[in-house]
Amino acid sequence: MRRAPLVALTLLLCAASARGAFPAPARSQSAMAATASPYATEAALAVLDDGGNAVDAAVAAALVISVVNPFDAGIGGGGFAVVHLAGRNGKAPLTRALDFRERAPAAATRGMYLGPDGSVVAGLSLDGHMSVAVPGTVAGLAELHKNHGRMPWRLVVKPAIDLARNGFAVGDEWVGSFAWRKDVLTRFAATRAAFMKRDAAGLEVPYQKGEVLKQRELARTLQDIARNPRSFYEGRVASAIVEEMKAGGGLVSAADLRGYLPVWRDPLCAPWRDLELCTMPPPSSGGVALFEILRLLDGVDLRGLGWHHPDAIHRLIESMRVAYADRAEHLGDPAFTVVPVAELTSSGYAAQRRAGIDERRATKSSEVKAATAAQLAALKAESPDTSHLSVVDGERNAVSLTFTVNYGFGSGVVVPGTGVLLNDEMDDFAAAPGVPNAFGLVGGDANSVQPGKVPLSSMTPLIATKGGKLFLTAGSPGGSTIITTVLQTLLHVVDYDMDCQAAVAAPRLHHQWLPESTRLEALGFDTATKGALELRGHSFTVTPGWGNAMCIRALDDGTLEGGADPRGEGVARGQ
Ligand code: GLY
Repeated sequence: MRRAPLVALTLLLCAASARGAFPAPARSQSAMAATASPYATEAALAVLDDGGNAVDAAVAAALVISVVNPFDAGIGGGGFAVVHLAGRNGKAPLTRALDFRERAPAAATRGMYLGPDGSVVAGLSLDGHMSVAVPGTVAGLAELHKNHGRMPWRLVVKPAIDLARNGFAVGDEWVGSFAWRKDVLTRFAATRAAFMKRDAAGLEVPYQKGEVLKQRELARTLQDIARNPRSFYEGRVASAIVEEMKAGGGLVSAADLRGYLPVWRDPLCAPWRDLELCTMPPPSSGGVALFEILRLLDGVDLRGLGWHHPDAIHRLIESMRVAYADRAEHLGDPAFTVVPVAELTSSGYAAQRRAGIDERRATKSSEVKAATAAQLAALKAESPDTSHLSVVDGERNAVSLTFTVNYGFGSGVVVPGTGVLLNDEMDDFAAAPGVPNAFGLVGGDANSVQPGKVPLSSMTPLIATKGGKLFLTAGSPGGSTIITTVLQTLLHVVDYDMDCQAAVAAPRLHHQWLPESTRLEALGFDTATKGALELRGHSFTVTPGWGNAMCIRALDDGTLEGGADPRGEGVARGQ
């Protein structure tokens, strides 16, 4: 989830968009990192300099994000990584996907967020101990490193330890996020101790931009992790988490932590244009929805129509509407529900649904239903606050990693003595059928709360290859908007010939079936285009910018090109 953007940034975007020009992308002949923080990009590049590969660098960057951007993602949360191994010494290239998403505690129950009258209790899945799911980040990063890293683990953790111990200067994003989530953050003594300072009168007050935040307890936790990553799940940190859960009424137990293991999954890969796209399968909805939208757009000449032509926008919105209707009904943790991945992403299904799209008129979302059981059965034969980072090394190995604590600063609960901020990923479940979560997403049975189940995600770390060689990595935070942000980044590069910087900077739109209206970035669309679409029945909600996309592309001449979303404070830089 993005915090209130800066007015200056909006003006920059508008001016750039009006001239059709954006700042130049980063360029390098050797390696590139694009992350949501200059500290994380620097750490990734330092690891690459020291002989680490893309996996070492991505793990180091993710740990640094956990220290400097705890409002987005951290070791108290979870995520997904898609890894592309370029193939050396006669080995074929390989793309793998690691699921280190949080899981519901064993004591979770379907009605845990309902009050005595059966209605959802506001805030229970979002703020405080009851919102916490079993964290996966530490196990996931360790698993990535164990399988594909080259540098000693302790050296990969070191940049994060140094930043936690020595401190870093907080920026606008930190200050804005803290102000936004102040009510929950000030509820807990350990959270205040971790994220507030004392003024001259001894009162706890928020940090201001440029002030240095040191997190000594987090540094100690990271040192434990540097010695043994399992210490998070079975050692001092695990005991502290369990004690805090008991004290605050949370459900995560010692057995939940002990039993946590990340899962290697087959990435969801399919050809598109002259590329092979690979991203996350369920329990992310990202891959399924991305492919479903791309299939629905098959045959639409986006390039010929031109960027932001009303006909192109119309088709985009209508395709997003269908895919998010299916997401609400059919997507969930595949260990608990049958997810019709092949059917929803098939050309046959897309053809059926395309036939229902009226070229001249916006469909009402109430008229757009998810795929029926009969449709899915007939198709059977034919055959998704967060942080994204991308790293590409000199051998063209690539990591596309999106991880999160969910809403800004997660649950707001810092575990005493550890500096660990816990997620509120339980809000990504459907607390009750049809009741929207913090991102306005609705769901049903497929994404109901069940013990041990993974809450449905929208995270869409993407790697595209061409002829087996890396072409592009992209991803973004933004809850429900992640999928459409990654989609538009891809379309901007492939169909609209934008470089990676322009692709992540260009104004975006978002439709998610419900609500009915399409989100547009302020001043991102000219009034004539908007008016033409309103005549077809579209309605728009103009909002501040969202997402924080990162993109790295490998050009045919061997140059790496990187872009970091100007809506955030991230940096793309080459070695
Ligand atoms: N918590 C946002 C997502 O996983 O989609």
